[in-house]
Amino acid sequence: MGKVSMGVTVVGAAAICAAGALIMRHRMRISNRCVTAADILKELEEKCATPVSKLRQISDAMTVEMHAGLASEGGSKLKMLISYVDNLPTGDEQGVFYALDLGGTNFRVLRVQLTGKSSIECQEFAEVTIPPPLMVGDSQALFDYIAAELAKFVADESEKFQLLAGRTRELGFTFSFPVMQLSIDSGTLIRWTKGFSIEEMVGKDVVQELAKAMKRQGVNMRVSALVNDTVGTLAGGRYSNKDVAVAVILGTGSNAAYVERAQAIPKWHGPHPKSGEMVINMEWGNFRSSHLPITEYDNSLDADSLNPGEQIFEKMISGMYLGEILRRVLLKMAEKAALFGDTVPPKLKTQFILRTPEMSAMHHDTTPDLKVVASKLKDVLEISDTSLSTRKIVVEVCNVMATRGARLAAAGILGILKKTGRDTVRDGEIPNTVIAMDGGLYEHYTEYRHCVEHTLNELLGDEVGKQVKLTHSNDGSGIGAALLAASHSQYA
Ligand code: GLC
Repeated sequence: MGKVSMGVTVVGAAAICAAGALIMRHRMRISNRCVTAADILKELEEKCATPVSKLRQISDAMTVEMHAGLASEGGSKLKMLISYVDNLPTGDEQGVFYALDLGGTNFRVLRVQLTGKSSIECQEFAEVTIPPPLMVGDSQALFDYIAAELAKFVADESEKFQLLAGRTRELGFTFSFPVMQLSIDSGTLIRWTKGFSIEEMVGKDVVQELAKAMKRQGVNMRVSALVNDTVGTLAGGRYSNKDVAVAVILGTGSNAAYVERAQAIPKWHGPHPKSGEMVINMEWGNFRSSHLPITEYDNSLDADSLNPGEQIFEKMISGMYLGEILRRVLLKMAEKAALFGDTVPPKLKTQFILRTPEMSAMHHDTTPDLKVVASKLKDVLEISDTSLSTRKIVVEVCNVMATRGARLAAAGILGILKKTGRDTVRDGEIPNTVIAMDGGLYEHYTEYRHCVEHTLNELLGDEVGKQVKLTHSNDGSGIGAALLAASHSQYA
């Protein structure tokens, strides 16, 4: 009897539970139906808003952090790394130099022939994709892979470029991660960013690692300059335009470098450079401030990332992450407001499946029925038969995320201009400032690029805005590294 009644009780409890769950599900469904994608979009727009007043607070915070990072090592989230570049190219550099550019999913090798007349005569490229396992494997495997490509590149060189016997090819090594430089041709990795994660490499001298790999592969090359891509871009930009004072990368990652007065760097205890200047690699990707418009999507992206708590600014503005933020918003709209029908499309749950180039293509869709959006949703996420109003919502989310990113990038640039006194009229004059820009996001995402330009003008006002120009410095980082190798050549 006891057993039976227990059985009954259990069944009864299960029935009650099932009924309860049903009621709960029903309630949830009712409440879910109350949330529309338009509601989620509206909330997103509010949370991502970047009015000028907010952008000014952000640029002020950037300036404050720049001061703190220059004052002492570890004084700020902004590392403000000393590059040991105290002289930018003059245009008089001569000879044949090489560059190796490593910083994203590809690396590039190039040869630059300098004629000493501010002209670069010849460049040849090899661009190689890094197999993803090497990005998270071990350092020897990564550097051996790179050195093997260098060996091939050199072996294929025509006789014209065979160097004099006994002479070593000189290389500018663009390594686009935070590095604590010990000199112009050495530096230890502080940490990885942008999806790389090879723990045993952290704290090691990246030039030594490359040199060991080149030796193993029989490549006779010497690294004469180790530079961040921002520093390379600054050097490459300055070669053709003397007004270039700042470089910004908006690509997979994001960062900026600029020319600082040596006297304004309290943490620099080395010899005072003759030029009185020093290029600073800000590592602005790691900037964070309570003024940043951070959303639940940013927080969850950060928590799931390889480097939680780090590179917060970068995660809001750069190419590696924009598509992923978009995916997270669309997933919420699918789950809470059935944006794509009653079931949540399974592919939408895969992290990083939606890349920024696809987001850009959808954002730029000018067809009346948003054909490009439809085809991207189908090809990438296997979502078919979307209505026009659904596709319009997707475009609007792209717009919100790209606009926020671009406006924040412009606020960052304003921070640098403020720090260097280039944001106002001083003594009746406004200095000409050219900002060398590079990176795939800036180059290919037209709406984003226009928004950066337009926002910077909005922030600076017409008078100062006229004196500040953004130029696209194509491949500047590699060319700049070769130029810096030239100015630090052992044969010079
Ligand atoms: C990341 C790296 C930084 C680099 C930037 C752009 O932020 O940490 O060194 O300059 O990406 O490539």
